[in-house]
Amino acid sequence: MEKIRWGILSTGSIANSFVKDLQYVPDADVVAVGSRTQESADQFADKYNIPKRYATYEALANDPDIDVIYIATPHSMHAENGIMCMRAGKAVLCEKAFTITAREAEQMIAVAREEQVFLMEALVTRHFPVIHKVLDWVNSGLIGEVRMVHANRCARGQFRHEQRHLNPELGGGSLLDVGIYVIGFASMIYGKAPLDAVGYGHVGEFGSDEQGATLLQYENGALAMLSFALRTAAVNEAYIYGTKGHIKLPALFAVPEKAILRVDGQEEVVFEEKLIGNGLHYQVLEVHRCLREGLLESPRMPLEESLQLMQTMDKIRAPGVFHIPMITNSFHFKNMEDLCQTK
Ligand SMILES: NC(=O)c1ccc[n+]([C@@H]2O[C@H](COP(=O)([O-])OP(=O)(O)OC[C@H]3O[C@@H](n4cnc5c(N)ncnc54)[C@H](OP(=O)(O)O)[C@@H]3O)[C@@H](O)[C@H]2O)c1
Repeated sequence: MEKIRWGILSTGSIANSFVKDLQYVPDADVVAVGSRTQESADQFADKYNIPKRYATYEALANDPDIDVIYIATPHSMHAENGIMCMRAGKAVLCEKAFTITAREAEQMIAVAREEQVFLMEALVTRHFPVIHKVLDWVNSGLIGEVRMVHANRCARGQFRHEQRHLNPELGGGSLLDVGIYVIGFASMIYGKAPLDAVGYGHVGEFGSDEQGATLLQYENGALAMLSFALRTAAVNEAYIYGTKGHIKLPALFAVPEKAILRVDGQEEVVFEEKLIGNGLHYQVLEVHRCLREGLLESPRMPLEESLQLMQTMDKIRAPGVFHIPMITNSFHFKNMEDLCQTK
């Protein structure tokens, strides 16, 4: 079988983890890396024996020997980088959060459709075997009708302003960085968008949200209670409560190794699958499956859902709802308008 040829766009923390995890995908070949500097591209390429190394993202996007590009830049860059790669005819796996606003997500999706290229948000959780099992349990009605989802994704990090995590200029803040995991989890379980979203957050010294919580309401009064933080540690568990029982995903639920099913009046059932590497290869298997089947998006992580997640996060940040200002960078948006011009 011919290998699928990957290009890696940027050389930061998760790009390193991603390339390491590609070793678990035998038909993946990392052929090139692109960075903002030649030095960084060379260092990264030497470390992982990558044959081609580029000093610009554009050069990577235009390499004709690449099938798919993994985008691992800060959130504020995703749309711009993704659109550039798709305009060059490349399939794209784009890190979460997909973009920084729903408007950008719409632009990304429009370009994918116009160019007829594959695009997927790298929301890694839903590709884990444990999640496949949890969805089987939920969809086969074992816990009855789902009435509540409860999840938290909270960490306590010592982030500096210049790092991306809490830096508003780079699309930082807990909602986009880790809130996406819990909002994405609720969306996956309910299989639809919430009817309403409210919440609170705390904007810290760097001008971005350090922590927050949101309450999402679905049809028939079903709820999701979700919390997220970058300066407050929590247990990082998820629970799905139904009318006949519940499912628990112990920490770290976003990279799940275990799920416990408890149906009223029955013995509990445990499903376990030990983590391999960082678990980032599961999403790569899905990208490969889609590319080989000629799909332009993943049924497990559809583009309409990525858009819906951004719309929900926009709603949570709307004035009077979450009290977190929507961070926009006018220079960035000007570039975006140019990139999105239809041909
Ligand atoms: N799926 C997961 O489990 C997971 C985990 C962590 C992070 N992520 C996501 O992956 C993305 C990157 O996160 P990360 O933790 O790897 O970030 P990081 O360590 O800060 O790396 C980001 C890279 O982006 C490039 N970059 C481009 N413009 C930049 C700018 N203005 N400032 C700083 N860097 C810039 C840099 O690479 P060059 O210098 O080579 O250009 C940098 O090394 C984010 O979207 C994040 O949410 C996902």
